[in-house]
Amino acid sequence: MVDFITLLYYTKRNRIWLDKNIQMTAQLIDGKKIAQHVRNNVHSYVDTLKAANKRMPGLAVVLVGENEASKVYVNHKTKACEEVGFVSKSYELPATTSETELFALIDELNTDGTIDGILVQLPLPAGLDVENILERIHPHKDVDGFHPYNIGRLAQRIPALRPCTPKGIMTMIEATKRPIRGLDAVIVGASNIVGRPMGLELLLAGCTVTTCHKFTKALKEHVERADLLVVAVGKPNFIPGNWVKEGAIVIDVGINRMDNGKLTGDVEFDVAKDRADWITPVPGGVGPMTVASLIENTLEAYVKFHSRASKLTQSKAE
Ligand code: GUN
Repeated sequence: MVDFITLLYYTKRNRIWLDKNIQMTAQLIDGKKIAQHVRNNVHSYVDTLKAANKRMPGLAVVLVGENEASKVYVNHKTKACEEVGFVSKSYELPATTSETELFALIDELNTDGTIDGILVQLPLPAGLDVENILERIHPHKDVDGFHPYNIGRLAQRIPALRPCTPKGIMTMIEATKRPIRGLDAVIVGASNIVGRPMGLELLLAGCTVTTCHKFTKALKEHVERADLLVVAVGKPNFIPGNWVKEGAIVIDVGINRMDNGKLTGDVEFDVAKDRADWITPVPGGVGPMTVASLIENTLEAYVKFHSRASKLTQSKAE
């Protein structure tokens, strides 16, 4: 039974009622729409730069090897860059590229005054050491936010350039206007790209954070107590919908291509949506936010580069 006050509460929260037996559906967090909003903001800023005859922000995207999925992601990134008016430079290198050759390109881009951001698409072909490559990128141009300098800053509560997917997820959570300080946040997946920096973001936002990984015992129990659940494992329907806590916020980072060609997330959406308060769809959820955050980071790198350059000129003049 639901009393009048409860009913009012749910209607106020805009929940959708199905039948009379109190089944509800979560509100979708529309990543496509939020990402478009972010990109429009960046575009407007670029328009003001154009009007003032300033140099445009520039992003260099480096793809090594023949990974088909990476090619698609890189295309999205360069297209989004051009749409907001950035200069974009693309480098497609063979899988046989040596570390020395890749270092030479990164060194050149590190000192290129028209480039504010450098992105080396992952994964890299076998034989290239990912840590060495990522550390070669100047931290001020590390728009992926993967350099130990930027991760360290996030860990010490002084974020600079922040990893794109977790940053995009934080933007989506903010869009729900739901305060998250003090929530029990559970992350499933402990990768360097998503899980680990996501933990740092949520800790910074005041959540009590648990990160689950392949050695975690009793995964179900962790998931069941999550007020905020982020899943990034890359396995379709890995989290059964009935594990999701009533009223939770569910962020599904997985993008899995099924045999029938459809894209599916890591969470069993059809069941989870009837338990969560807020949930991200796949596709159209986290995916577009990663690209939007990259665009934001490139602009941030540009703005910081300018302020550093003008401080330098100022101090030289003094
Ligand atoms: N591969 C999968 N996601 C990412 C990302 O956010 N950045 C880079 N550089 N490579 C990736």
